[in-house]
Amino acid sequence: MTAPITERDIKWATSLPELEPGPISVEPYVSPEFYQKEKRSVFKKAWLEVARVDEIPEVGDFLVSKMECWDSEIILVRGKDKKIRGFHNICPHRGMKVSRCQESGGPFGDPDVYQKGHGHVFVCPFHGWTYNLDGSLRPIVGEEYMPEGFDRSENGLPEIGVDVWNGFIFVNYQKEPEQSLREFIDPLAQDLDDFPFENFNHIARYSARCKSNWKAFIDAFQEAYHAVFLHGRSIPDCGSTPEYGVPNSVRVYGPHHSISMWANPAHQPTPAETIAWKYGVSFTPGAMNDMGGLNPSGDDNWWFDINVFFPNFFVDVGPGWYFTYNFRPVSENETVWIMNIYQKDAATPSEKIAQEHTKVILRDIVYEDLSTLEEAQQMLESGVLTHLNVTNDMEVAVRHQHATVMEWVNRDEPS
Ligand code: FES
Ligand SMILES: [Fe+2]
Repeated sequence: MTAPITERDIKWATSLPELEPGPISVEPYVSPEFYQKEKRSVFKKAWLEVARVDEIPEVGDFLVSKMECWDSEIILVRGKDKKIRGFHNICPHRGMKVSRCQESGGPFGDPDVYQKGHGHVFVCPFHGWTYNLDGSLRPIVGEEYMPEGFDRSENGLPEIGVDVWNGFIFVNYQKEPEQSLREFIDPLAQDLDDFPFENFNHIARYSARCKSNWKAFIDAFQEAYHAVFLHGRSIPDCGSTPEYGVPNSVRVYGPHHSISMWANPAHQPTPAETIAWKYGVSFTPGAMNDMGGLNPSGDDNWWFDINVFFPNFFVDVGPGWYFTYNFRPVSENETVWIMNIYQKDAATPSEKIAQEHTKVILRDIVYEDLSTLEEAQQMLESGVLTHLNVTNDMEVAVRHQHATVMEWVNRDEPS
């Protein structure tokens, strides 16, 4: 961390698509009709991340997750062949939810996130139709009374697309999507392929249900312009200089993008932070690390990378930690947000202290981030503003996300 604090230019690592430089319309942030279009044209087309493979490690482990953006609910299950498959949670007999998973316990028991269970089959609670872990329908009571032409082999659980990248399970509304997961997430995924995700453990989850549009929610996590002011309490000297709000470098990859954050070289660690960094790794700026998959543009004064997988999944990576965000839209003005934090296992009590520091500093920061969302949404819905005045370079990710959503929606439904 040697470069002086001076006026800096952002390093653009990939060419930018045509981004409109002007104000951004408020309508996509408040309109129920626009949200219906987004469900059809974005969320039923894109690959969406929902969980990690180690959350259902054994044959018969499954989880049930709401998918409000599909107006549905899904089951992800590990089959006898160890493969993970996904299904809509609906019985093809008369539409009952096949799994009403009540075994919520453990860190993943939040019904806003998903519920977990284990079994050998799924039994519909209405008339008892029973499905194997691969979704196929077993022999049914009264099959001889079904109309002619009824084919049991065609009446398994309705399947969805499922694929895995670096332990992250992505789903697709289409059973056979137009693009494979890898085609969809490359080349952003390539930047992260060397990051050792498998060496990290889940250390914390924070989640919230917030009356905010999903894009406004995302926008609050993909620019640092606000950090100078909003995070002045939690990370004051990172936020005390305007340069902090300017990304070091930006990469735009089709619908996705990534941003490398700048670390203030004059940062003065707090006493707690000093202890954390002495024994381990924490979120605040510290030693550089030669771990693969970090700092793709080779920036000086590099802090961490924000990787944004369109439409609603983030993987933020740093030296010895990573965390993810999922932004799950519920309606045009409600979103469920889930943050999962991962670090290398703490081998000693001292390393555990560093982990605890990571957890609480991130908690304080995200409290600040969440504090603005509902009031901003409320006022956007007042109709007073028709447009938002977004900076060009500092908030380029906001601009790119907005442009991508408009492109996907207009592609299907030209206005
Ligand atoms: S609705 Fe499932 S068995 Fe009838
Ligand atoms: Fe923030």
